[in-house]
Order: sequence, then C-alpha cells, then structure tokens
Amino acid sequence: YPFWAQQTAPETPREATGRIVCANCHLAEKPTQVEVPQSVLPDTVFKAVVKVPYDTSMQQVLGDGSKAGLNVGAVLMLPEGFKIAPEDRIPEELKEETEGIFYQTYTPEQENVILVGPLPGDNYQELVFPVLSPDPSQDSSVHFGKYSVHAGGNRGRGQIYPTGSNSNNIAYKAQNAGTIAAIEPMDEGGYAVTLTTDDGSEVVESIPPGPDMLASVGDVVAAGDVLTTDPNVGGFGQKDTEIVLQNPARIQGLLAFFAIVTVSQIMLVLKKKQVEKVQAAEMDF
Ligand code: HEM
Repeated sequence: YPFWAQQTAPETPREATGRIVCANCHLAEKPTQVEVPQSVLPDTVFKAVVKVPYDTSMQQVLGDGSKAGLNVGAVLMLPEGFKIAPEDRIPEELKEETEGIFYQTYTPEQENVILVGPLPGDNYQELVFPVLSPDPSQDSSVHFGKYSVHAGGNRGRGQIYPTGSNSNNIAYKAQNAGTIAAIEPMDEGGYAVTLTTDDGSEVVESIPPGPDMLASVGDVVAAGDVLTTDPNVGGFGQKDTEIVLQNPARIQGLLAFFAIVTVSQIMLVLKKKQVEKVQAAEMDF
C-alpha cells in the first residue's frame, strides 16, 4: 500500500538509484505510463495522468485464499513547487475525471510528491492528477526551466509485508531441505507439507492459502526450492518524463521576433519592386 512506502521510506519514495520504493515489495514488473504536457506556463492548472493498464478480467488471491479483482495505486513526483490544484482552481471537466480520487502528499513538506490509492482498478486504470504549476515571480525558490517527473504505478497485492515476511501472493519456497513425506490440505486453506530431512527428523512447513502445489510426495527438495505456483497477476512499473516550466516572456519574445522577421521580409520585397520600377524608368531603348 502507498502508506507502507511512507512508513518504510519516510523521506522520499525514490531511492538514490532511481528506483521507486514500491518495487521493494511489489516484485513483479508491469508497465506504467505517465502523461504530462510538454510545457506549462506559471500558475496554471493542468492534467497529469498515470496509466496502470491490466486485463480487468483477471482475479488475484486475497489473504484468505479467495479471489477478487485488483486495486491500483500510484505515486507521482513532480518538480519542486508543483502541487495538487486547490478545489476552486480545478475546471469542471477535470473535476469529473478526478472524482473519487483522494490525493495525499508524501510528507507534509513535500507537496510535489503525491500518492493515490488503493482504488478499484476497474474504474481507475487511468489516475488523473489536477496539478497547479508554481509562479517564479511569486516564489523565488522556483525557476523557469526543464524538470524531471517520476511516476510509479501498481496493480495488485504486494509480495512482502513491511515486517519482511512474505504475503500469500508469491510462490512458496521450501525453508528446509529434505524429501516430501506428506502434503495435507489444511482446514483454513493452504497445505501442511511434511519434509523428512537428511538427519531423519520431520519438519512441517505450512503453505498459506493462495498458491497451488507444484511439488508432490516423494520429491527431494533443497532449501529455497519453489514448491508452489506463483499466484501473482499484478505488478509495479515506473516511468520518467520531463516538463518545461515556460517563461511567458520567452514566447512573447519569440512571437515578436517572428513579427519583425515577417515585416522585414515584406520590406525587402517592396524595396526590390521599387528598385525595379526605377530601373524600368531609366531604361532607354
Ligand atoms: C497492496 C500500491 C508500496 C506491500 C497494495 C495495493 C496497492 C498498492 C494499490 C492494493 C492491491 C490490491 O488490493 O489489489 C502500492 C504503491 C506503493 C506501495 C503505489 C508505493 C508508493 C508498498 C511497500 C510495501 C507494499 C513499500 C512493503 C513494505 C504491499 C502488500 C500488499 C500491498 C504486502 C498486499 C496487502 C494485503 O492485501 O495483504 N499496494 N504499494 N506496498 N502492498 Fe503496496
């Protein structure tokens, strides 16, 4: 869950290597996309979209072994100064697209790092963020220029809990080496697997409900060998992009330059016509 990212990495969700911390527990990789405008003007509301596509007909195992649809969540890291737009600045159309989404800042100080989810994936494969750009004329710590944007998106349950223990949404690996003496389904779901170790003693490993048995009685297994299928159908993905905080004076300057070039070109043509007229008058046959 996004709040486990806050708990396990309280400063920032992005490690020095560029990896977003959700990947520490959501081990499978699935694509995520991010869309932002190429450039934005200061103090403007625009839309950023994190896409978490997956086949919604898929079901995943829950903690008790039953099956259900997937939920999605995302983290969006905007440049400093950018933040979720206040309610009264969001246009009606964008309000509709963001209905039902609750935006949480990663830390109280970091308004530019935003978490959403978990949300039902059936309705929210595209997570829309209404963003307000900063104004360098109001805030001297912000400057015009090109900045990085990082996004991470997840669908489905993770494989590791913050305590470090595995969830039931991962292939089960044998803890001990030995020969499988018995496999018995447990009342609460899952299996009790009895292993006869090399020294002749018996150990019982309990496999939680969710994954299906691959190993069978009589198999010789080493510690770490996979005994079950991997029930996970979800995954996490991250994507980087860029956004330009554009100085309006630059655009005005560019337009003025175009206007000057256009006028001077017309002037040159007019001058040429004038010279041609004089030449024509001076010509004597
Ligand atoms: C569940 C997203 C970080 C471990 C979920 C779910 C979402 C999600 C949407 C619900 C999935 C579903 O019900 O279908 C995220 C995002 C993260 C993040 C966006 C980063 C910002 C983490 C971290 C950990 C973790 C850091 C481990 C410390 C899990 C586990 C579950 C889960 C174990 C399944 C819980 C259960 O149902 O028993 N996460 N997560 N997640 N997440 Fe994360």
